[in-house]
Amino acid sequence: SIPSFVKIVEVGPRDGLQNEKKLIPTQIKVDLIRRLSDAGLSVIEATSFVSPKWVPQLADAKDVMVNVSAMGKARFPVLTPNCKGFHDAIAAGAKEVAIFAAASEAFSKSNINCSISESLQRYREVCDEAKLRNIPVRGYVSCVTGCPYEGPIKPSRVAYVAKELFQMGCYEISLGDTIGVSTPGQLVPMLQAVMDVVPVQCLAVHMHDTYGQALSNILIALQMGIRVVDSSVSGLGGCPYAKGASGNVATEDVVYFLNGLGVQSDVDLSELLAAGQFISQYLGRQNGSKSALALGKA
Ligand code: HMG
Ligand code: MG
Repeated sequence: SIPSFVKIVEVGPRDGLQNEKKLIPTQIKVDLIRRLSDAGLSVIEATSFVSPKWVPQLADAKDVMVNVSAMGKARFPVLTPNCKGFHDAIAAGAKEVAIFAAASEAFSKSNINCSISESLQRYREVCDEAKLRNIPVRGYVSCVTGCPYEGPIKPSRVAYVAKELFQMGCYEISLGDTIGVSTPGQLVPMLQAVMDVVPVQCLAVHMHDTYGQALSNILIALQMGIRVVDSSVSGLGGCPYAKGASGNVATEDVVYFLNGLGVQSDVDLSELLAAGQFISQYLGRQNGSKSALALGKA
């Protein structure tokens, strides 16, 4: 059965913008985050404290964080790949962080320049630091059904990484279809394997929409008991270390879909459409949400 409430984790300002080549002014990012928060989104991934050599677009992480941490209403987690990122994030006012591992060795190497086991060791250190300060940590697993370098990924490998992240203290594990290749055919066995080792109420799905499969996958995930869905306003994004990956499923489309199912999300669709319109106009790009196009706001 479908849950009556779904928590949306808005990742547009981070996952959506990280791949943009042209540097976006900090003020535009902060404005976008404010609009998303005003639309009712309660969790907005604001930026990443990663190496600016690896992700130049997010080199202003500190300034973004200083501005948004005063906003109040929503929670603003940020990505931290190591203890340096964690300490920088906390110093800038972050109250919640996310760590990001992969189920594929080749992707781990290309995204964070280390093996899966090295990354888990690093993340254990981040979690230990976070525990001392009562900072909640979210964990990502990338390439949960397919990897741009290794192809299909076995469910048991995803379950292994998810369990490690859960055991080191992550309160929620977000399962990332990084390159958007999954269909329900691959998603179901993967979720079953992960649900054997991590309680379903601690799981989220993070679907990129490269092949147009995201909403079908989300429906299946909800039917299997998952209640947290990641999405990106106007479908912005892609991972700089996953060539060809398109953006996350558009938040507008997820909200339209949940509204149709009678599932609460506490997000105001018209304010969300305006936020999507704002950033699409700034980027000079057609809105990536079909609902936004259909509703004439794009
Ligand atoms: P490295 O080069 O192996 O790191 O990168 P290092 O420890 O050898 O340090 C090299 C330099 O980076 C040093 O500076 C460090 O100080 C600096 P230098 O001496 O050369 O001037 N450095 C840092 N600077 C700022 N913040 C930090 C930091 N750490 C080191 N935290 C590293 C390793 C992990 C740092 C690098 O590979 C990196 O930053 N990777 C991040 C890549 C990334 O952000 N990818 C996108 C996010 S993941 C994603 O999109 C997937 C997801 O959406 C889920 C899904 O869809 O599947 C989450
Ligand atoms: Mg992603």
